[in-house]
Amino acid sequence: ELKENTVIVVLGASGDLAKKKTFPALFGLFRNKFLPKDIKIVGYARTKMDHTEYLKRVKSYIKTPTKEVEEQLEQFTSICSYIAGQYDQDEPFQQLDKHINEIEEGRKENNRVFYMALPPSVFTTVSQHLKKNCYPKEGIARIIIEKPFGKDLGSSRQLQKALEPNWKEEEIFRIDHYLGKEMVKNLLILRFGNEFLGATWNRNHIDSVQITFKEPFGTEGRGGYFDEFGIIRDVMQNHLLQVLTLLAMERPISFSAEDIRDEKVRVLRGMPHIEPKNVIIGQYGKSLDGTKPAYKDDDTVPKDSRCPTFCAMVAFIKNERWDGVPFIMKAGKALNEQKTEIRIQFKDVTSGIFKDIPRNELVIRIQPNESVYLKMNSKLPGLSMQTVVTELDLTYRRRFSDLKIPEAYESLILDAMKGDHSNFVRDDELDASWRIFTPLLHYLDDKKEIVPMEYPYGSRGPAVLDDFTASYGYKFSDAAGYQWNTASTPNKL
Ligand code: BG6
Repeated sequence: ELKENTVIVVLGASGDLAKKKTFPALFGLFRNKFLPKDIKIVGYARTKMDHTEYLKRVKSYIKTPTKEVEEQLEQFTSICSYIAGQYDQDEPFQQLDKHINEIEEGRKENNRVFYMALPPSVFTTVSQHLKKNCYPKEGIARIIIEKPFGKDLGSSRQLQKALEPNWKEEEIFRIDHYLGKEMVKNLLILRFGNEFLGATWNRNHIDSVQITFKEPFGTEGRGGYFDEFGIIRDVMQNHLLQVLTLLAMERPISFSAEDIRDEKVRVLRGMPHIEPKNVIIGQYGKSLDGTKPAYKDDDTVPKDSRCPTFCAMVAFIKNERWDGVPFIMKAGKALNEQKTEIRIQFKDVTSGIFKDIPRNELVIRIQPNESVYLKMNSKLPGLSMQTVVTELDLTYRRRFSDLKIPEAYESLILDAMKGDHSNFVRDDELDASWRIFTPLLHYLDDKKEIVPMEYPYGSRGPAVLDDFTASYGYKFSDAAGYQWNTASTPNKL
């Protein structure tokens, strides 16, 4: 349940994450009255600012399309305050503690949620100083942490080891914001709440699974961070693997956090390492018309960078349900469109009465324009027996009136405040996920002769991509020029 008497401390309050995600989400929750009435939000960062200056900055993080929102933002700032301090000294953290104590005066409990919107370099020291200087005496303490949780299995374990003496697993909330997305949260309901899907959800009926993440912009402005991590660490080891896990796991005994996470860990443990032979990597060059920059044109990126901005890889799961089924994950920056979706391709129907009839495909569109559609064959209406590909289509915007989908961060911050761990990453889950990727990451880091294939900014990725997916059995069918019927979708993409 949601605790009254809570103070949220945002560490790294002047950074990019706080600006883009944390504060807008806190404001969204505040204005929809999801936060406890007496909530206070304290910012902490190195930048020296006075109160007015800080509030001005917080306001600049948030869009105010209407007068009403503008007024709500004004109210929001009245619960915000700021302390400036270094990340590696006791004294400023004691000051932070004093400030929180003042807020808490007269309260019978003091619950504190620490949101670490911080770069990895200061992460450990801050978590230690918080425990030492700001841990609540009476009440609940929670710490929300953000990726990158290390760079490989070894560094992730080191981070975890540094956390362990100070923070109990039940106090830790590791965010993977994909777990807060509406359609990702729907996966368990779709799979386990629909008999016809549950019955076909295995290697006997499913030929391949694809999870695709595409962004139409490059790493402009983030090159410094990105070059150290690359697309595999940035979105695949976490966001896409989370989606894969939810697609592949067995039915949990209940919806409780530990039952769900037990099943997630079990499926991860059944996955062998990703093998280099099942991977292609790419890096974007200039757009064909020359107007968009190449990855290496970014000043913060070394000219000889081998960092992948695109990757397609295939994972397998060695269990009864999935043995032999390729799980193809694709992710890229600077591509032709924005889209994250899951594509389950079923096996061919028995031949005989049909010739070349396309396969069924279940497409789950995570974003944008949340939808689920099943591509299926039907008789073309009329006198002939010709078949046509059509679909069963659940497009959220058409189906649900007054659709309001919360931001992933809103949903996750609220869960953390309620103490619900279901949509956060457990320690053993993190470990299991790094294990699957680490040999590949080391191989790519070490083998200097492996250079990513160049693809033009704004294209579909490296030219070999379609052959790559086809080699795992994926059959592309443009039968009769089939296109998902977006024309009748109000928000045409
Ligand atoms: C972040 C990555 O975790 O996820 C970014 O660091 C990426 O590189 C982002 O752009 C994608 O999130 P969303 O919610 O916009 O799909």
